Amino acid sequence: MNRIKPLFSLDGKVAIVTGASKGIGEAMARGLAEFGAKVVISSRKQDAVEAVAEQFKADGLEAVGIACHVARDEDCKNLIEKTVEKYGRIDILINNAGTNPYFGPIDQMPMAAYQKTMDINVNAAMNLSNLAYPHLKKNGGSIIHISSIEGLHPTAGFAAYNLSKASLVMLGQNQAAEWGKDNIRVNVICPGLVKTKLSTALWANEDIYNNAIKKIPLHRMAQPDEMAGLAVFLASGASSYCTGAVIVNDGGILHSPLM
Ligand SMILES: NC(=O)c1ccc[n+]([C@@H]2O[C@H](COP(=O)([O-])OP(=O)(O)OC[C@H]3O[C@@H](n4cnc5c(N)ncnc54)[C@H](OP(=O)(O)O)[C@@H]3O)[C@@H](O)[C@H]2O)c1
Repeated sequence: MNRIKPLFSLDGKVAIVTGASKGIGEAMARGLAEFGAKVVISSRKQDAVEAVAEQFKADGLEAVGIACHVARDEDCKNLIEKTVEKYGRIDILINNAGTNPYFGPIDQMPMAAYQKTMDINVNAAMNLSNLAYPHLKKNGGSIIHISSIEGLHPTAGFAAYNLSKASLVMLGQNQAAEWGKDNIRVNVICPGLVKTKLSTALWANEDIYNNAIKKIPLHRMAQPDEMAGLAVFLASGASSYCTGAVIVNDGGILHSPLM
């Protein structure tokens, strides 16, 4: 009889993943669904989330698409309400939707770009967590924030993004401190460089790509699917004693002598 393997099962669990129409969010949502969860695929565009949900269903997985612009409070309330209407509960929330609208010096950073970055990358994660909290509390639950290695070290030109991702780390750790009593675990994943639409500028040009991967001990960018296993682990009973953790998944770049 297996004793440890069942701990990874997500059978009967309901998960919301924001920014799940593509990239890291889509891969994590698929991971959760393949391990048995009913998954709510969310991003701003209804047609995009429906397309992903349909693909999941065609593969025998359970999913529904519900659009939500995470910086809009009414959209967030609707996402939580529709999830409970459809599946009756919420066990897992992955705050993955993120943006990086400004690259440049801090002193020239438009406040609107800074505000947008904080609204989407941090404030929305706090708002959605608070809205999900009464539901997560019922059976215990897991919140996972998708930060970045950029939240753990400075990179010139990335101030707004890095500030937002560093704040997300502390949001997760404070939630872990406050919500452990409710058996809600909160953990943070910090990916390194992952080949997605968001990181196109790093891999679309061969010279830029080759230069970027010099600093990575594994000598390549990650594929989105390589982020999914950690999400399954942190969502499941396999990580039942893990909360407030900040887990780096970066091909070793933070420890590279070239960083
Ligand atoms: N790629 C990397 O190298 C890397 C590294 C570290 C951390 N991350 C983090 O990983 C997360 C996912 O990034 P990714 O690389 O997978 O990006 P991506 O492939 O560009 O996907 C971004 C997702 O977020 C959705 N989205 C964007 N703005 C949104 C909003 N306001 N409300 C709701 N959904 C929104 C997009 O869909 P719609 O356009 O349909 O809304 C899409 O589903 C982000 O938080 C990012 O900061 C990425």
